[in-house]
Amino acid sequence: MKIIICKNYEEVSREAFKLVKEVLQKDRPILGLATGSSPVGLYKKMIADHHRNGTSYQSVITFNLDEYIGLPQKHEQSYYSFMHENLFDGIDIKEENTHIPFGENKEGIEEECLRYEEELKQYEIDVQILGIGSDGHIAFNEPGTPFDSLTHVVKLEGQTRKDNARFFDDNIHLVPTHAITQGLESIMRAKKIVLIATGENKADAVYAMIRGEINIDCPASILRKHEDVTILLDEAAAKRLEINETNE
Ligand code: F6R
Repeated sequence: MKIIICKNYEEVSREAFKLVKEVLQKDRPILGLATGSSPVGLYKKMIADHHRNGTSYQSVITFNLDEYIGLPQKHEQSYYSFMHENLFDGIDIKEENTHIPFGENKEGIEEECLRYEEELKQYEIDVQILGIGSDGHIAFNEPGTPFDSLTHVVKLEGQTRKDNARFFDDNIHLVPTHAITQGLESIMRAKKIVLIATGENKADAVYAMIRGEINIDCPASILRKHEDVTILLDEAAAKRLEINETNE
C-alpha cells in the first residue's frame, strides 16, 4: 500500500490525475469511477486536460461503483446525474461505454445486481477510483459487509445518510435508505486502486484502514490485501498517522 500525503485537496487531485493519465495511454482504458466530493477535483482535471490537450475518451470504458435505489435515473442527486454533470458531459466519452447500476426501480433490483456483476466481470478495471466514508465504507459497503461480497443491495447506515444529507437540502429524510453497490470482492478485482481521502472527518477512518485490524468492521481495511493500492491524503485526513510519505 503506497500512502502519499499531500498539502491540500488540489495536490491530491493532481496526484490522482497523474495515475489516471498513465492508464489513459492504453488502447482501451477501463476506468472504475466513484461519486461524492472526493473525486471531483480529479474529474475537473480530466475535463481540463481533454479541452487543453485533446486527450480523447472515445475508447474509454467506465464502470461506476454504486447508485441510490428509488431515485429516478435523472434525479438531480442520482449518481447517473452526478457523473454526467461532473465528468461525462465535459469529455468525449460515448454514453454506451459508461456503466452505472440502474437503481430507479425497487422491483427487479436483485436481477440488476446479477446483471451488473456479470457485465463488470467481462472487463478488467485498469484503475479504480475510491473515496472512503467516515465509517470506513468503500462504495456503499458498510461495516459488516463480507469481504467476498459481489454487487448487492445495501441498507444505508445512519452515519452515511447523515453525511450525504448535505446533498439533499440537509434533510436526512430525503436521503434514500437503500443503494445498489459493487461488493468488496468486485472492487478488489481491479488491477490498480487509488483511494482519495481529504478533511479531518476522514482521519479516523483513514487510521482504521491503514493501522487497524483487517476486518469487516472497517471495510476499507480489505485494501491492504491488494497489491497495487495508492492512498492519497491531505494533511487533515492523515493527521493520526504520524508519517510523511511512505511505501508500506
Ligand atoms: C461513492 C462512494 C462512496 C464515497 C464515500 C465518500 O460512489 O462509493 O463510498 O466515496 O462515501 O464520499 P465523499 O467523497 O463525498 O466524502
